[in-house]
Amino acid sequence: MAFIFKMESLSASYGTNIVLEDVNFRVSEDDFIGVIGPNGGGKTTLLKIILGLIKPVSGEIIFNPDLSGSCAIGYLPQISTGDLSYPVSVTDVILSGMMIRKRIITRMSKEDRKKAAGIIEEMGLSGMGRSSLSELSGGQLQRVFLGRAIIGDPKLLLLDEPGNFVDSTFENDFYEKLKELNKRMAILMVSHDIGMISAHVRSYACVNRKLNYHPSSEISNEQLLAYGCPIQLITHGTVPHTVLKQHN
Ligand SMILES: Nc1ncnc2c1ncn2[C@@H]1O[C@H](COP(=O)(O)OP(=O)(O)O)[C@@H](O)[C@H]1O
Ligand SMILES: [Mg+2]
Repeated sequence: MAFIFKMESLSASYGTNIVLEDVNFRVSEDDFIGVIGPNGGGKTTLLKIILGLIKPVSGEIIFNPDLSGSCAIGYLPQISTGDLSYPVSVTDVILSGMMIRKRIITRMSKEDRKKAAGIIEEMGLSGMGRSSLSELSGGQLQRVFLGRAIIGDPKLLLLDEPGNFVDSTFENDFYEKLKELNKRMAILMVSHDIGMISAHVRSYACVNRKLNYHPSSEISNEQLLAYGCPIQLITHGTVPHTVLKQHN
């Protein structure tokens, strides 16, 4: 499988605070990787490096030149439902994913609108194109933002804590969608909740300043500990979740 990008001895910092150190990491076309790690471990920073929002202080990230042109990246940022009271429609939000790709604000073509209509169908939001975000359930919102992330036909989809604002009723639907999308794009999904994503990803990267890659979806508590990712079991309602303990 062709690689999408590789990081070589990459480090990143905010001022003098080194957040990622000597990271070597490669993502291939068909990957579905869970990015786990404690709060403040550097997961979002890793995504920002991939998106080019911040530059490494040393080392580099190399994108596959053979994939350029088609190598757009889809991004589902960390969102909380509190942010979503704007009176914008489902179609507008999905179309805004196109605008990011064009990088300039242009009028949307008929073709763009047709594409958005297709995405609305694909995301199971038929008939909701004109609905305002405030009318939607958590699961529907999540699919709107997923539609926005994929409208540009990315080769790589980045998801930052997508479980944060979805209610559990829609969780399975969402992961089923991701599984379908993984047939045509690589996926990198950030979560601090290992239990929640363990059934869906094919491998893990544990990020806590250093990045440790685990090439299997099976990951034991002992392995996590050995890689410097201390874990903790917490309970939401009656469901136990394995999460990463705050590191020193
Ligand atoms: N814009 C920023 N300026 C300064 N420090 C930041 C900034 N963003 C994140 N950090 C710091 O970098 C570290 C890693 O943050 P982040 O990548 O957001 O971690 P995670 O997503 O794993 O919780 C944290 O210590 C955080 O406080
Ligand atoms: Mg984060």
